[in-house]
Amino acid sequence: MSRDHWFEDLADHMGRAYDRYAHTKGTMQEVDHIVGALRLEPGERVLDVGCGTGRHAHELARRGCVVHGVDISERFVAIAAEDAPPGATFARLDARTLPFDAEFDAAVCLCQGAFGMMTAEGDDAAVVGGISRALRPGGRLALSAFNAYFAVKHHDDAVFDAATGVSHERTTIRSETGDPAVVDLWTGCYTPRELSLLLTGHGLVVDSISGVEPGVYGDGPPTTETPEFLVIARRAIGGQGVVPAGA
Ligand SMILES: C[S@@+](CC[C@H](N)C(=O)[O-])C[C@H]1O[C@@H](n2cnc3c(N)ncnc32)[C@H](O)[C@@H]1O
Repeated sequence: MSRDHWFEDLADHMGRAYDRYAHTKGTMQEVDHIVGALRLEPGERVLDVGCGTGRHAHELARRGCVVHGVDISERFVAIAAEDAPPGATFARLDARTLPFDAEFDAAVCLCQGAFGMMTAEGDDAAVVGGISRALRPGGRLALSAFNAYFAVKHHDDAVFDAATGVSHERTTIRSETGDPAVVDLWTGCYTPRELSLLLTGHGLVVDSISGVEPGVYGDGPPTTETPEFLVIARRAIGGQGVVPAGA
């Protein structure tokens, strides 16, 4: 696979230092909530899209799920595989071209796991389309996305492009040994209505959208005051609306 995603250099620089960031510290609470919201049972097959270093995939596998994590970063996939408990496997894949067909009981795509990490028109739709096809009919999805209202209102260090909904910031990341690097970060931001339209257009039924933040997942309504939205959805039975691969 060609190396064409801006995040790959960042992942190479951070390596295991990614797991030191504050937003990764709420994994247990996030998985507790998702297991309940998706009614996950031991033995169910779960796809983790944009799995990063595998923190959700590892925890879901420890709870008995059979998890396959995919990520575009070779470095992150290597870390995830190295630390994997039984029941968790990993592969380097571009989430825009997921090859799965009705193979999973559930999928998670969390903390801008590919979704919201690309800025070209159609990228996020390709991710959602691939996730929808990967789910068996009735299969469930938990997907988080950055809250556009929050970005405009509270994200003072970033520039929000109203035409595209993309927030851009320059920030410093650190390597495992603490070496700093100044990098650009782009985040695609969403409103609940956009999320609903996008998922519904790809054969998913949206059950709920809540306002959340890392480590504080819950069922509260969307507001302007939480950094992320969490969508709980499922693939429609009968597959209506599922866009064929490459369409
Ligand atoms: C902010 S991290 C989130 C990782 C993980 N889901 C978590 O919660 O810690 C975003 C991840 O999405 C991955 N990613 C971005 N674009 C991708 C793509 N097109 N295909 C697969 N993974 C992608 C990045 O490599 C990165 O690991």
